[in-house]
Amino acid sequence: MFGVKDGVLYIENVSSMELVERLGTPLYVTSRAKLEENIRAYESAFPNAEILYAVKANNNLAIMRIIANHGFGADVFSGGELYMARIAGFKPEKILFNGNSKSDWEIEMGVECGVKFSVDSIDELYTIQKVAEKRGKVVEIAFRVNPDINPKTHPKIATGLKTSKFGIPWETTLDAYEKALELPNVKPVGIHCHIGSQIKEISPFVEALNKLFDLAIKLEEMGVEIDFIDVGGGLAIDYTGEGAPTPKDFANEIVPVFEDRKRDLSSDPKLWLEPGRSLVGNTTVLLTRVNAVKRAYKNFVAVDAGFNLLIRPVLYNAYHRVAVANKMNEREEEVYTIVGPICESGDVLAEDRRLPKVEKGDVIVIFDTGAYGFVMSSQYNGRPRCAEVLVDGDRYHVVREAETFGDLIYKQRIPNFLL
Ligand code: LLP
Repeated sequence: MFGVKDGVLYIENVSSMELVERLGTPLYVTSRAKLEENIRAYESAFPNAEILYAVKANNNLAIMRIIANHGFGADVFSGGELYMARIAGFKPEKILFNGNSKSDWEIEMGVECGVKFSVDSIDELYTIQKVAEKRGKVVEIAFRVNPDINPKTHPKIATGLKTSKFGIPWETTLDAYEKALELPNVKPVGIHCHIGSQIKEISPFVEALNKLFDLAIKLEEMGVEIDFIDVGGGLAIDYTGEGAPTPKDFANEIVPVFEDRKRDLSSDPKLWLEPGRSLVGNTTVLLTRVNAVKRAYKNFVAVDAGFNLLIRPVLYNAYHRVAVANKMNEREEEVYTIVGPICESGDVLAEDRRLPKVEKGDVIVIFDTGAYGFVMSSQYNGRPRCAEVLVDGDRYHVVREAETFGDLIYKQRIPNFLL
């Protein structure tokens, strides 16, 4: 799906050089075939699970439509994500509305749409009750519980430790469900957790799952019928070439535990998963043009994309493989540091990488940028966001146009008293 012909990077059958000549840089390019492959990997690894795509990873409508067409559900984390997920084609009954700080209007929107809620606080529970009552509805919920598990990942993306802002503290989960059972317009039907992201070992997931089953047993005794147990997302992808577990590896370890522990229950819950990164991460590359090569303290390669378009290296010290898209077969002879155009010293995309001789005009490809790439972009330093392209075999389609200067001032108003 990503290959090389005559020394040039190809995305399926389309040359990266043709794309940048026609559409300019920077440019996010997604391979549909790679995305379909990832979707099929989940479908075949988890034939009996409900898979909810975490749309926060990449909310491009075309990408979400491909995933929705496979019958996947969606994990949304805001009213805006819910809006986009609905337009992309996700069915409300397969949408779980997550979030630790939902505004009242978001709860109203979710109730109106008929989605399920993952409830993160008692305040939220009572708000849902109020809204549901007003609309004469019964809303199905799970609590997001905080199982206090170390996922062994970057601290900024560990979400199930007891120090985290997410979820109902483990000791108070029974109390939360008890409160929910007393409410006429709220029906607890599931348990939810999400322990973190880019998790390379499966054991923390197994640990979490076991804890959720321990809880489920107690909940059944209280009269809760458990329709689903949602272990969230978080499966790592292979950014570095050192390997990462596949959905199959994941399934091999958690499905037997799930089936085994299900025997402890009288209800027949379904396993729910919320993958984001492992569906979209490796489907996409960011192509960025070299504006200058500077021999200074380091060999700096200054490109036209910075942390305005890919913030992961800066925020998490994340590693993304890079190459020279127009020199894929040339010998790697020098060490370069790839920096963006943003007016901050921290705007470094890749540090000390061995590459072929880089010159002005070359195109650097940054791999595995499909998850938490464009979605985390900004217009900082007056830089309109770039276009996104979807490649499908021989054809390609611009699935998001590049912004223009007009977008930089869109929605701004100079007050009359300044005129
Ligand atoms: N479910 C919930 C409730 C989540 O909060 C997340 C991600 C997911 C599912 C999907 O996790 P995934 O399968 O993608 O790991 N911006 C960071 C990642 C933040 C993840 C936030 N939550 C990064 O670029 O690494």
